[in-house]
Amino acid sequence: MHQHLASPTPAATELPRPKAHQPVMPWEPRLEGLLRPDVLAAFDRKQFESDGYWLWAGALTDEGRARMTAELQRLQAMQDFMVRNTRWADGINWAARGLSPPPPERLTAEWRETRVCGGSEQLSYYPAQGDTPEVGKGFLNMPTRTFMADVGLFGTGADSLATDGTWPSQGHVPEFAPLCHSPFLLDLATSHPQMMALFGKLFPGERFCIDHANVLNRKQGEGPGRHWHGHRYGDGRYEEYEEDSDGSPNPEFLRRQCIRTLCYPEGAVSAEEGGYGGELGLVPGMHLFRVPFEASFSQADDAAMEQWLQGKTHPRHGTPLRIKRLTVPPGSFISFCHHMPHWVGPRVVDAPTRWAFLFAYRTPLPHAVAEREAATTAEDETSRWGPVMPAQWLRRMDAAIARGEHPPWSETARSILGPD
Ligand SMILES: [Fe+2]
Repeated sequence: MHQHLASPTPAATELPRPKAHQPVMPWEPRLEGLLRPDVLAAFDRKQFESDGYWLWAGALTDEGRARMTAELQRLQAMQDFMVRNTRWADGINWAARGLSPPPPERLTAEWRETRVCGGSEQLSYYPAQGDTPEVGKGFLNMPTRTFMADVGLFGTGADSLATDGTWPSQGHVPEFAPLCHSPFLLDLATSHPQMMALFGKLFPGERFCIDHANVLNRKQGEGPGRHWHGHRYGDGRYEEYEEDSDGSPNPEFLRRQCIRTLCYPEGAVSAEEGGYGGELGLVPGMHLFRVPFEASFSQADDAAMEQWLQGKTHPRHGTPLRIKRLTVPPGSFISFCHHMPHWVGPRVVDAPTRWAFLFAYRTPLPHAVAEREAATTAEDETSRWGPVMPAQWLRRMDAAIARGEHPPWSETARSILGPD
């Protein structure tokens, strides 16, 4: 079993200083006092397993909160700069990379400014099946995103992702590869002792790997919330469900887990309570129904969800299931397990940007572990890294570390970013 709580990184003074050319990303010292120890200590495992979520209210220290907000703002500014200033239409050589450019109508400066800049979940669109035109909001298709992860959209002059000269291009975009653009978030996601203590409480005695880590800034003026939905564990092959089941509750908490931890440095409070909306709703206990991981399980609004909940009771203590809208004070995290249906409230007109970041971890997938353990020859040997982080960035990081230009991976980082 891997130890997640061991001190992962040498003291800051022992680390090599970055070289002037900064081949991967600038290194910076850790913010030690990130979280309030009393909030960490207040975690109640029994309650978490029963409710399926935990609110780490005000967990960030004042300094940690300021740092998190500033970092999310910095990443957004960085990405907006790329979206505005990269020469998508006449600079990037798409053909040379075997890619297709964004649709012509989306290449205008106005379209990019109004539709892509300012927040998350605006950037990506998915190619439709067959020959139908590509549809959906967004700017970069999945092949481009895959290319940025595997090879990197590097080039020179006009044929490159724009940077303002204060940060090196990572060949990718901050929203989807935030840990590659932020030493601060990389530390939080893979090494910071207080964050490892927090995640360790969610996975007691278990190894956990990164599932994904995304920026989730909600842009200014973006009003609509998100409908009720749930997520599954891995590709769903280990889920306990019947295809035609309407949800048979099981009071046992699943040991295999994918747990999402959202960080709201500036909070998220409903309009009714005087906030800007965008609050998170969920149904305590409903993770034990095992059903909502299905993509087909979605309820458009509270009324539909209330209907679904009619007559259903908590599998452990028998109280009626109820929607709970969380009031999230600034500097908080919310952790919730997979299967838990959740929803995001609409935001008031002229709401400012909502700053948020998502850390999602899961226990290793049993089949992947089995395949890795079965690999006996060098040729069979699986990668030392899992598939989540961009391969081109991991290669460059490894090389930079070998050259002494970047601090070495911590033990926890190797475990979290490594293969199942
Ligand atoms: Fe979700």
